Amino acid sequence: MHDTIFDQLERDGFAVVEEFLRDAECEELVAAGLELTRHLPDAPPTVFSTTEPEQQQLKDKYFMESNDKISYFYEKDALDADGKLQLDPSISLNKVGHALHLLHPIFRCYTYSERVKALCRELRLLEPAVVQSMYIYKNPGIGGEVVPHQDISYLYTEPIPPIGFWIALQDATIQNGCLWIARGSHKSAVHRRMLRSPEDRNKCIYDRPAPVYPESSFTPVPVSKGTCILIHGNVVHRSAPNRSAASRPAYTFHVVERKGNNYSEDNWLQEGENAPFLNIYTTSQMQ
Ligand code: FE2
Repeated sequence: MHDTIFDQLERDGFAVVEEFLRDAECEELVAAGLELTRHLPDAPPTVFSTTEPEQQQLKDKYFMESNDKISYFYEKDALDADGKLQLDPSISLNKVGHALHLLHPIFRCYTYSERVKALCRELRLLEPAVVQSMYIYKNPGIGGEVVPHQDISYLYTEPIPPIGFWIALQDATIQNGCLWIARGSHKSAVHRRMLRSPEDRNKCIYDRPAPVYPESSFTPVPVSKGTCILIHGNVVHRSAPNRSAASRPAYTFHVVERKGNNYSEDNWLQEGENAPFLNIYTTSQMQ
């Protein structure tokens, strides 16, 4: 008998759901992602890099206020030393987030779809809520790496960890920067947390330095276009820079159980009037 998605997630810390979206649906999301690059704000561009000195990113007000917005985060190499854009806007973004699931009609439609609801039921979630969403570009040649991390470091919940939904909108390969996952690492504890600073709630700090993970612990998880990878909050994962000629776009969002579960007040991301943590089962695809 086949393992269920629930069993796979429990056993490996991730589960691969093939053909979650059809090709045309992926293309619709890619077009929506590209369309976002055509309306970039004039405000100073914000670099999103997981390898920059942590303080720089953490102090970033723009990031902290992106919970209820569609905010734009650039690739580090897209900007010159003065922060001026050096590339065509269409290939300059690292990601857009974190409230696409609430504010953007197309992303909302896919986030609160029957298929997502059905997966949540398979995962035995009682009151699942989407807390954040991101469109990741990973453009050819410039798409940056994502250093090893556990999602629970950023979205701390207990006792039930968050679950990431990561949907490949093109084939994700070793060459263009697919996910690499440390199978079984979800059985370890929370390795570190990013917390709102007790001195200044508008800033975040890490409680511990980043752990070093042996390269050998990671397995590449290449997937075809339309596949959804479910990611346990405690599983360590990363992705390499995209040095290929093929883009590796993804739509990703995080789901937390609200029933019998505590969402930490110290997380950077907080529920707000304009960013409610809506129950997936009872939320409509339409705004
Ligand atoms: Fe992650």
